[in-house]
Amino acid sequence: MWLICRVWRHVVRGGDFVIDATCGNGHDTLALAKMVCTESRKGLIYGMDVQQSALQNTSCLLDSTLSPNERQHVRLFPLCHSRMEDILPKGLSARLVAFNLGYLPGGSKELITRSETTLLALDAAAKVLGSGGLISVMSYIGHRGGREEYETVRSFATKLPTTTWVSSEYEILNRPSGPVLIFLFRR
Ligand SMILES: C[S@@+](CC[C@H](N)C(=O)[O-])C[C@H]1O[C@@H](n2cnc3c(N)ncnc32)[C@H](O)[C@@H]1O
Repeated sequence: MWLICRVWRHVVRGGDFVIDATCGNGHDTLALAKMVCTESRKGLIYGMDVQQSALQNTSCLLDSTLSPNERQHVRLFPLCHSRMEDILPKGLSARLVAFNLGYLPGGSKELITRSETTLLALDAAAKVLGSGGLISVMSYIGHRGGREEYETVRSFATKLPTTTWVSSEYEILNRPSGPVLIFLFRR
């Protein structure tokens, strides 16, 4: 989280439109809301999750942390991220699309993100991302299906054309079983 937020802060500015593709307990949604809502400019955050309980947790966290003015700039959707294009405002490019894959901390370990829909969602994210934007993926390999999903994300990243994308991967060497971070920067 520490590293990922530092990278996001280099990309995201007040007034930007950003997407949290996996809201979970809302920590990433909150961090993004703080980045796009500044004194002078208020951006827009779209968050989504397939679990109603995750959206409730996110909503509670936002309600108790953000000002009412900031809170109205966050919209939450009970939706699979592979369908993000269905709800996005027409003509608005995203500055950042964040994926934090795996299962809801504190929830069922059976309800996890899956390679097939993650791949469709990455395709959709690449379409809605504006120039200078970032797709950020935190991928866990410790749970069942996690390594296969990581390989899927990695394969997607390696196939992006170098004329328009810079794909990179960060592994935390002093935390060997920790998540792998994949950053896809759009030129
Ligand atoms: C690791 S958690 C996200 C953590 C979250 N970003 C946070 O800050 O607390 C992964 C979340 O992805 C959600 N998820 C699983 N499949 C999904 C899908 N197809 N579309 C959107 N969200 C999905 C899960 O319900 C879970 O809440």
